[in-house]
Amino acid sequence: MTQDEMKKAAGWAALKYVEKGSIVGVGTGSTVNHFIDALGSIKDDIKGAVSSSIASTEKLKGLGIEVFDCNDVAGLDVYVDGADEINPHREMIKGGGAALTREKIVAAIADKFICIVDGTKAVDVLGRFPLPVEVIPMARSYVARELVKLGGDPVYREGVLTDNGNIILDVHNMRITDAKDLESKINAIAGVVTNGLFAHRGADVVITGTPEGAKIEE
Ligand code: 5RP
Repeated sequence: MTQDEMKKAAGWAALKYVEKGSIVGVGTGSTVNHFIDALGSIKDDIKGAVSSSIASTEKLKGLGIEVFDCNDVAGLDVYVDGADEINPHREMIKGGGAALTREKIVAAIADKFICIVDGTKAVDVLGRFPLPVEVIPMARSYVARELVKLGGDPVYREGVLTDNGNIILDVHNMRITDAKDLESKINAIAGVVTNGLFAHRGADVVITGTPEGAKIEE
């Protein structure tokens, strides 16, 4: 089984958590693209979606799924999204696709975070994947210096502007043993919009695509 087939297995298995008539929170990335395809197959049974990126919005609309503004929705039953890394505490690094801020907002209004990954994303300690930080452009150098003080090695993601018009610093060489503490510390730096640690709001359910099919941990 290829990595993409494992992503597909995880994405389709997440349909089990979608209630009839509901509005579904939808993340971003190649694993989520499989989930969006799966949603398309039941589009007449759902009310619509709240999306975490322009890319996911376009894909949802292309399949005829209505996309609601986050401000018009009081809450969501589920938010389905991928991750770049996930540890045994269900804390994640996200933002490989630069959609971390909108992902954090949609996750915040959902009762349940369903994380869909292939088996390569599971780690014991977060940090091998560079931690994305969304930064207001004028704060780039200041935030980079502060991230160095926290022990990281920030690298400017050249040529990338987020959907919110900001830049991304990818922080290399962090061994993240206290993800909640680091999430709070980075978010407290002036000029940081948010960082890709999803530790305070981790995953509630993890669906892992494996060569044997989707493994669900509740
Ligand atoms: C985008 C994300 C994605 O969920 C993460 O990068 C995983 O992507 P993929 O499913 O393509 O491996 O956080 O900002």
